[in-house]
Amino acid sequence: MLTDAHHRIIDYVRLSVTDRCNLRCTYCMPENMHFVQRKALLTDDEILRLLQTLAAAGISKIRITGGEPFLRPGLMALLEKIKAIPGIREIAITTNGVLTQAYIPALQQLGITHINLSLDTLQADRFLQITRRNRFTAVMDTLQSLLQHNMQVKINAVVMENVNTDELNAFTALTRDNALSVRFIEEMPFNGQGHTFSGIVWNYHKILSTIGENYTLQKIVDAPHSTSLNYHIPGHKGNIGVIPAYSRTFCGTCNRLRISATGSMKTCLYGNDVLNVKEMMRDELQQHLLLPAIQSAIHARFANGFEAEQHHTEKNMESMSVIGG
Ligand code: 5AD
Ligand code: SF4
Repeated sequence: MLTDAHHRIIDYVRLSVTDRCNLRCTYCMPENMHFVQRKALLTDDEILRLLQTLAAAGISKIRITGGEPFLRPGLMALLEKIKAIPGIREIAITTNGVLTQAYIPALQQLGITHINLSLDTLQADRFLQITRRNRFTAVMDTLQSLLQHNMQVKINAVVMENVNTDELNAFTALTRDNALSVRFIEEMPFNGQGHTFSGIVWNYHKILSTIGENYTLQKIVDAPHSTSLNYHIPGHKGNIGVIPAYSRTFCGTCNRLRISATGSMKTCLYGNDVLNVKEMMRDELQQHLLLPAIQSAIHARFANGFEAEQHHTEKNMESMSVIGG
C-alpha cells in the first residue's frame, strides 16, 4: 500500500493523457497556450506499465484527465487496456464534452460510467466568453446524451466573480429533473499566465449561502475522501455540491496522486513536481527504481495544500491543463 508520513493511504491516481485542449478556458490557459510535442507525452505502453506498477502497489481508482482526454489518439483502446489491469476497480473521466458524445456507447460498454463534465455556464454567448471557443451546442448535446444513457454525470462548474455567479440558481435548477450532480468549484490560481492571484471572493460558504437563499439544502453523507460537500434538495432527482479547491478543507483525507501527460508527478495540486516517471521509465538504469522513487515521494508529501504551496517554487505559472485538474 502507498502511504504518506501523515497516515494517509494513496489509492487514487489522476492521470492526464494529453495537455492539448480544444477549448481555452480563461481560468485554465492563455489563448496562445504552448503544447508539448507528442514524443514528450507518456506513450500508451508507458501509461500501462506505470498503472500496472501503481495498481500492484494498491492504486484502485484512476481518473483520466487532460487537457481534453478525447483529443488523445486511440484513447478508447488505451482505456480498454487500463480496464484489464488487475486491481483497477474504477476508471472515471473528466472531459469538456466537445467530442465526447460519439464515445458514450463505447464507454458504457467498457463499464466506464463516471463522467465529470466541465461546464461553467448554461448560456451560449457566455460559453464563448469563458472558453474562447464556440462549442456550446456540442457540449450540451453530450450532456443530454450522457443522461439518456444513464451515465453518472457530475458537472464541474468553476465559480468566478463577475463571470457566472448569476447562474448558481440555473445550475441548481438542473438537478430538479435530472439525476446528476452539479459541483461548484472554487477558482484556483492555475491559469497558466503567471498573474498574481489575490484570493477568491466566491468561496464555498458564499456559494452555499447564495444557493440557500432559494433552495433548501440538506447535507448528505459524503463519500470517504470526497473533495466535495454535497447537498440534497427536497424534490430534486440530483444533488449539488461545493468543492473548496482553494479553501482546501479536505487535505486531511487526501488519497490522490497526480501524473501529468509528460510524466511529472505531483503529490499535491499546490506543490512542485516531485518526480518524472517518464524519465525514469525511459532510462534502463533507473527503471527498477520507479516504485521506490514513487514511494519515497509520497512519503515526503506535505500535510496539506497550504504547506505545499509555501514550498512551491513556480507559483501561479502553471496551467491546469498541464497539471491535469
Ligand atoms: N480553478 C478551478 N478549477 C479549475 N479547473 C481547471 N482550471 C481550474 C481553476 N483555475 C477545473 C475544470 C475541470 C477540471 C479539470 O479542473 O473546470 O472541471
Ligand atoms: Fe480545456 Fe479543461 Fe482547461 Fe477548459 S479547463 S481549457 S476544457 S483543459
